[in-house]
Amino acid sequence: MNITIVGTGYVGLVTGTTLAELGNSVYCVDIDEKKVEGMKKGIVPIYEPNLEEMFLRNIHANRLHFTTNLKEALDKSEVIYLALPTPPGEDGSADLSYVLKVANDIGEMMTEYKVVVNKSTVPVGTADKVTAVITSKTDLPFDVVSNPEFLREGFAVEDSMNPARVVVGCSSDKAKNIMAQIYQPFTNTGVPIIFMDEKSSELTKYAANSFLAVKITFMNEIANYCELVGADVDKVRLGMGSDDRIGHRFLFPGIGYGGSCFPKDVKALIKSGQDENFKFQILESTEAVNNAQKVILTKDIEKYFNDLKGKKIALWGLAFKANTDDIREASSLDNIKLLLEKGAKVTAYDKIAEANVRNVIGDQIEYAEDMYAALEEADCLLIATEWPEFKNPNFDLMASKMKNKIIFDGRNMFPLEVPEQHGFFYKSIGRKTINN
Ligand code: UDX
Repeated sequence: MNITIVGTGYVGLVTGTTLAELGNSVYCVDIDEKKVEGMKKGIVPIYEPNLEEMFLRNIHANRLHFTTNLKEALDKSEVIYLALPTPPGEDGSADLSYVLKVANDIGEMMTEYKVVVNKSTVPVGTADKVTAVITSKTDLPFDVVSNPEFLREGFAVEDSMNPARVVVGCSSDKAKNIMAQIYQPFTNTGVPIIFMDEKSSELTKYAANSFLAVKITFMNEIANYCELVGADVDKVRLGMGSDDRIGHRFLFPGIGYGGSCFPKDVKALIKSGQDENFKFQILESTEAVNNAQKVILTKDIEKYFNDLKGKKIALWGLAFKANTDDIREASSLDNIKLLLEKGAKVTAYDKIAEANVRNVIGDQIEYAEDMYAALEEADCLLIATEWPEFKNPNFDLMASKMKNKIIFDGRNMFPLEVPEQHGFFYKSIGRKTINN
């Protein structure tokens, strides 16, 4: 099948590459000429493990094409996926202007039946809005479908090629058959495709992400309580997760959730509720608890030293989680902000995400060449991202560099006995503090 993807951000690029891998001819459209030129030359504009190989394979197989010309791509395709940004406005509601602008262009440019697929995370009712915009521009037949993505950054290729399910919101049989055909390679291997109405599909995405945000936040509160009563959250987590109604995943406590999805989706669902005079109490609490959790260790560091003025804090990890260069809503940034406000100096190390942080905060902090260099004369270490290279550090080398042997670990990277054996003060989340 010939498919157009409008928007080559994270979702568009991964979706386009996946659909090409499934054997379709895919035309990726973006207004950014430089980016399109780069992609034509085989440059992947985002960091995502295993994406480059699949991307290049499909370019060479002539299944993956790039253009800035929407009309050209549209004329070749029966199906158009919209993978456009829906950034949160001041009030948290999703800004649909990019989506509706392209819907308008499609309405003006189309010359025959099209299926328009909303792949971006969009509020309930967006399919109706897209339909209204296209209808205002053409009398030709078309269908609008909601098909949310559930990709995790860092695992996007894995998730997109082995989805847990495909959700399609669609009320026309014609479009339903086309979507079933696109996803047949998945359904053939047992992946369920769940058809529903457009609104339920749109809400499914928000409900799934918000639920996971609640699950993490619940565990963060349990962790904080564990510390007060002397319980160990790692044990509690294992005990809880072994009940398969709960499951082990997304029960890891830490310094709060971040990223491009959870914070934005929680906010947007709260706002959508408010528009209907409906209060999402759980989500409002989740947001508040998460905001506090993000800086909980900086507060602990402040308590430990009494005064942070002039203290040198080494920071391991800037990305909102491991295996990505994404720093959107990253806890590291909240901690940096607070530490700087309190007069501390920060030296950070994160090979992958450093460039993005430099773009946002420039030289307000120092950036180290390697993880040990960041520790030079440090009063303490704060770990904000669970990069695998931090898992088995050379504690003796760490001790030799640092002014004080103190670690505040927001990702519970080490078994408690390890920093203890090396004589460190070690404060993690929801576990006993090692106070050597
Ligand atoms: C998420 C969803 O998982 C994905 O389905 C959706 O489509 C997009 O949003 P992503 O933002 O890439 O994906 O990251 P994810 O791995 O879900 O982690 C989100 C945040 O939660 C990160 O900050 C992570 O560190 C945190 N997290 C995750 C925890 O604190 N504890 C956990 O147990 C799991």
